[in-house]
Amino acid sequence: MNQFENKVAVITGAASGIGRALAMRCAEEQMKVVLADVEVVELQRVEQELQSAGATVLAVVTDVSKEKDIQTLAQKTLDMFGAVHLLFNNAGVGAGSTIWQSTLADWQWVMNVNLWGAIHATQIFVPMMLKQGTECHIVNTASLAGLESGPGNSIYRVSKHALVSLSETLYHELKMIQSKIGVSVLCPGFVQTQICDAHRNRPAEYSKPGDIVEPSPMSSAIDQFIRSGVEQGISPKEVADHTFLAIKSNRFYILPDPSYKEPVRQRMEDILNQHNPTFVIPSHI
Ligand SMILES: NC(=O)c1ccc[n+]([C@@H]2O[C@H](COP(=O)([O-])OP(=O)(O)OC[C@H]3O[C@@H](n4cnc5c(N)ncnc54)[C@H](O)[C@@H]3O)[C@@H](O)[C@H]2O)c1
Repeated sequence: MNQFENKVAVITGAASGIGRALAMRCAEEQMKVVLADVEVVELQRVEQELQSAGATVLAVVTDVSKEKDIQTLAQKTLDMFGAVHLLFNNAGVGAGSTIWQSTLADWQWVMNVNLWGAIHATQIFVPMMLKQGTECHIVNTASLAGLESGPGNSIYRVSKHALVSLSETLYHELKMIQSKIGVSVLCPGFVQTQICDAHRNRPAEYSKPGDIVEPSPMSSAIDQFIRSGVEQGISPKEVADHTFLAIKSNRFYILPDPSYKEPVRQRMEDILNQHNPTFVIPSHI
């Protein structure tokens, strides 16, 4: 997809971090921008920010884990702009402890947002895009965590590996039917956002007594490692710029920070050589 002016972009998780940066970049490209997020106040703030910059914006309070919310998002987009050309499945959260100590509520919340959010959006927006028959592109925000192997960030890691597979499969299937829909999977390393405070959006239904366990020493150490990585990460704007370069050249894998390639290479080699998984910490951390 090369032409963006007057086209319509839908961004989930648009009220903060990478989503906000993608929205700003869409506005710079003269696109009509649909912002979707659960954080009402922050969503309004970004809406006003974009409007002040002269952009045409629609903000829709959306919980991506709810199919009905995505249906409403799609309908409001069609009612207001008549089409959708660029979809960013970007909303994401992290929670829990080790694989075995995380609660069922941790698993359900993270998988429902990170994986089911993209599943709902794919099922609802892809048929719309196919019917339109115009050039479109879908970007799923996974993570480096979806390409490498290691301990910690456990449910998040599982959800992002699944999202990479969903994206790859979608890419192949859309290519087989010769559709005009491009697909990319965005796999950043650490980015300076509010991802470590994702619990701010944890719904009451996943926060009942017993839903949240005390962190273990191992998970605390890993959380601290991630927090300092995020603080030193690249900017969301850099991620948005890399993402647009990839969309323009119809590139599937987007790794905005080349210094994170080593853990991916190691995992691929371990698989091909049938070695047990190696935990590689990127060299610059
Ligand atoms: N920051 C990093 O280091 C990093 C690295 C790799 C991948 N990612 C991914 O980038 C994406 C964006 O996260 P970020 O880093 O900008 O964090 P962020 O917390 O700054 O932004 C995430 C946004 O998603 C929204 N959100 C949360 N639950 C939602 C739901 N159910 N429905 C709709 N919106 C919801 C939040 O309100 C927030 O605005 C996520 O998918 C995350 O996993 C982040």
